[in-house]
Amino acid sequence: MSGFSFGFYPSTRKRRNRTDDFVRRLVAENQLSVNDLIYPVFVLPGEKQQQAVSSMPGVERKSVDLLLQEIEQLVSLGVPAVALFPVVGDDKKSLQAEEAYNEQGLVQTAVRAIKHRFPEMGVITDIALDPYTSHGQDGIIDKNGYVLNDETVDVLTKQALSHAAAGADIVAPSDMMDGRIGAIRESLEVEGFVNAKILAYSAKYASAFYGPFRDAVGSAGSLGKADKKTYQMDPANSDEALHEIALDIEEGADMLMVKPGMPYLDIIRRVKENFKVPVFAYHVSGEYAMLKAASQNGWLDEQAVVMEAMTCFKRAGTDAILTYYAKDIAHWLKNS
Ligand code: PBG
Repeated sequence: MSGFSFGFYPSTRKRRNRTDDFVRRLVAENQLSVNDLIYPVFVLPGEKQQQAVSSMPGVERKSVDLLLQEIEQLVSLGVPAVALFPVVGDDKKSLQAEEAYNEQGLVQTAVRAIKHRFPEMGVITDIALDPYTSHGQDGIIDKNGYVLNDETVDVLTKQALSHAAAGADIVAPSDMMDGRIGAIRESLEVEGFVNAKILAYSAKYASAFYGPFRDAVGSAGSLGKADKKTYQMDPANSDEALHEIALDIEEGADMLMVKPGMPYLDIIRRVKENFKVPVFAYHVSGEYAMLKAASQNGWLDEQAVVMEAMTCFKRAGTDAILTYYAKDIAHWLKNS
């Protein structure tokens, strides 16, 4: 005799629904699809330019002409949207970040080119000044290096308008200034961009997981030893995230972003349960770098861990995921 002694059987066997692939598929509560993916891309000035990012193997910075080829692939894979991040030359950086709202700037030019060739591709632009400031902060600073809120919001508003005018579908303020969603929403309305969507980075934390991104856009050097703790949130806090989200919804945000992703799934869950609005997650550069490095060392099975991580985003309540793995995931989904 083996197992339970005669006369006793468990009344419920949870393992029954796990016996075969077919039944596991039937009872699965959450499923990732290509419709959930946003692919971030780093845009270089010039033509035929392509550069690897050493701390993000597999990620390439590209000039607009080469980017269009990549976007063609993304369209055929069914990825709904891309998020653009410019790599701006030092000669274009300044204290007042005027380049941020240059109609002929890199982002504005890239948006026009993408929307012209691929009108069906959703284009998301980042609203923040860090690619354009000589000091690498997301806003305008005073003589002590403190980022000035209202002065910064004025520039962010001009930046958002110039992106909308170029044809951006979604502007995504990632700067964490107070009141910027309301200011941007109002000026978009006044200028007639009533369908320009705002993806608010409402709960953006002062995270060390952004390191490789700052290498990729070249803001790490300008920022030096400074940090962003006077505007990005303290990783110790969670109630505060709900308050930030509530303000941004009231000010006119259409979608909300939680950033970083994997260590912050509890925030996503709380936001979703409290507000029932579209919640996106940013699986940031440091999270990508960790999974990539371990996979390259043969310590983790890359496809398996990435797909598990994405499923966990869905389980937490995430509607869409911004991830450097988006293209790989779209391929894997197509082939499975
Ligand atoms: C800055 C910005 C950052 C990221 C996106 N926009 C970094 C920062 O706040 O310094 C990070 C994204 C990533 O790590 O992948 N506005």
